[in-house]
Amino acid sequence: MSTKKEALVVANFKMNFNMRYELQHWFANFIKAKKGIRLDSTRLILCPPFIHLSSFIKKIRSKQISFGAQDCFWEQKGAFTGEISPTMIRSFGGKYVIAGHSERRRYKGETNKIINYKVTAALKAGLQPILCIGENAREKKHDMLFSVITKQFKECLYDVGRSRIKDIIICYEPVWAISANKPDHLPTTDEIMEAKLLIKKLLIQEYEGPVSEHVRIIYGGSVVSKNVSEVCIDAGMDGVLVGGASLLPHEFVKIAQTIDL
Ligand code: 13P
Repeated sequence: MSTKKEALVVANFKMNFNMRYELQHWFANFIKAKKGIRLDSTRLILCPPFIHLSSFIKKIRSKQISFGAQDCFWEQKGAFTGEISPTMIRSFGGKYVIAGHSERRRYKGETNKIINYKVTAALKAGLQPILCIGENAREKKHDMLFSVITKQFKECLYDVGRSRIKDIIICYEPVWAISANKPDHLPTTDEIMEAKLLIKKLLIQEYEGPVSEHVRIIYGGSVVSKNVSEVCIDAGMDGVLVGGASLLPHEFVKIAQTIDL
């Protein structure tokens, strides 16, 4: 991992904490798990459901922890019933937003074009987008990693100029590895490195070398403390995006500690 860049450990809590007591329980355990632990070069980014964002910001205060949202709309304000704007997220304390998660592509029909509108709107509001890209099982089977990632990269980042690319975090999240409980459903270190090199190449091709150096590339998909060395450290990634394991505070903190070593 590059020593210059702060590593990122992002929690995507997805649609969890349905009951108030579940949230209180998580807070209490997280505070316990985090007590006395210093992270020197790792930032935690917590992305709860919108409705809990303010509670997280009030409850958890640490220089090493920032907050984000799991999605946003592409307009900043107005008659868009049910939507949450990037400006709202920013002004209520969020600094990051996940864009293009495969679950939104799948269940909400988000296309690269829609994701591009969201990325652009997020940047405009001063948020740092965490852009998820990655192939699904069928695409993997047909050796389509290169074409899928290239298309997602180019279309989702369309019109994002050189001055803004450093604010983007790219997450390589192979769809087939999300919430996969079988060991053979985890990419190997080499496979993750291959995806990283491809993303790096695209960055250098589309933006100049020195600018692209600032972009952090992280990994997502079934990350736990036991595999974080393989999927992040050994693969030279700048951090991880964690789903299921983020619901377990001790496990989540352990992942961050391993990366921070
Ligand atoms: P899991 O860590 O549960 O596989 O989820 C990954 C993910 O979708 C993070 O955004």
